Amino acid sequence: MAPSSSLAEAHAAELERFAQQHPRSRELFERAQGSLVSGVPMTWMAKWVGGHPVYAASARGARITDVDGHEYVDFALGDTGAMAGHSPAATVAAVQRRLADDGGATLMLPTEDAAWVGEELARRFGVPLWSFALTATDANRWALRLCRAITRRPYVLVFNFCYHGSVDETFVTTAGSRAGNVGPPVDPTTTTRVAEFNDLDAVERLLADEQVACVLTEPALTNIGIVLPEAGFLDGLRAACDRTGTLLVADETHTFSAGPGGCTRAWGLSPDVVTIGKAIAGGIPIGAYGVSAELGARVEALEGADLVDVGGVGGTLAGNPLSLAAARATLAHVLTDDAFARMTALCDRFVAGVRGALAERGVPWSIVQLGARAELAFAPEPPRTGGESAALHDAAVEDFLHLFLLNRGVLITPFHNMALMSPATTEADVDRHTEVFHEAVRLL
Ligand SMILES: Cc1ncc(COP(=O)(O)O)c(C=O)c1O
Repeated sequence: MAPSSSLAEAHAAELERFAQQHPRSRELFERAQGSLVSGVPMTWMAKWVGGHPVYAASARGARITDVDGHEYVDFALGDTGAMAGHSPAATVAAVQRRLADDGGATLMLPTEDAAWVGEELARRFGVPLWSFALTATDANRWALRLCRAITRRPYVLVFNFCYHGSVDETFVTTAGSRAGNVGPPVDPTTTTRVAEFNDLDAVERLLADEQVACVLTEPALTNIGIVLPEAGFLDGLRAACDRTGTLLVADETHTFSAGPGGCTRAWGLSPDVVTIGKAIAGGIPIGAYGVSAELGARVEALEGADLVDVGGVGGTLAGNPLSLAAARATLAHVLTDDAFARMTALCDRFVAGVRGALAERGVPWSIVQLGARAELAFAPEPPRTGGESAALHDAAVEDFLHLFLLNRGVLITPFHNMALMSPATTEADVDRHTEVFHEAVRLL
């Protein structure tokens, strides 16, 4: 949508305010033009509103302080990487112990923490055998390779507008190769079939010829707004996979927000593979995939598959002692059952605050919640599919909202309109968002 002149004026005023308040960030951004691609350490950081990112000085709990001295309530939380809060004490202590006291960040040898984390993830997600990566992207990549190797089938099935990290096979929409896909090795429509989420007929049709190795999906889509599964969809998906000998991979990287064992445990799902990353080591890089006992046996029985050297599933730093020490501490002491109960209650409060503001002004938007995570959608009813959700995108409104919040000390994720609660988030933090959101809605 083209911005209305009043929205454009309000946005220009916010840009002016941002520029005045962030001279030091601006200086650092200008300096970085000479040494960093797009002036940022990772190109997506250029997406922050305001013309350049705010440079961080420090972060603790649910707060970030920038180099110009402003403090923010952080609902972006590293797009889930910091769902445990920034530098939680138990994780910091474990990392310090591993790195400074015990010594050894990367050893080529397992440590006891690995078995503990495997057992804990098995307890939470119900699949018994785990392997580690450094990112959720790699966990997904390796899971896809294993599924193809085991089933000896060529295709994967994903849902329209899914995101699972920079995994080649997933950049496909129902309209073909996804717009903007950078240098794919092959046209991903040759590796991947696509259905709309919640469209069981399409799934059944695409699995019918038994050529699909696995379905890779989040139990609820979270990367095109939140799209929740309709009643019966996930059961139908499981049944369609069973009928056709297709494996089912649940990517819980974001849907972990639903509870201590993600949607898998909260909704009683039974995927063959669970992949996860981001939050489980309190912000220290990690990824993981877990497989059922049956699948584990099939992996071990694979003939001619090089699982220990150059076979395409592995990384030198994967499974390193530092990641696993951080994961053990984070799972044991930070992202606990009690913490999830508090985070979800805070998110209930967040959602109620947003609904109150929308109702007060008669704004026809909705907000969808998945445990500790919530996402605004610019329509009165939440979208049912990725395609529907993509069509709701409104860059002008979204950019204004993000900048308005940021200028008043509230960060939401730079991608779409997501807010996440951490164990360190407080009711006062949530109420600050509600207050600023009310103001924004009044202006809009
Ligand atoms: C559902 C899901 N899976 C996997 C990933 C990839 O995570 P990472 O970028 O940490 O590898 C993401 C990233 O946003 C994600 O949303």
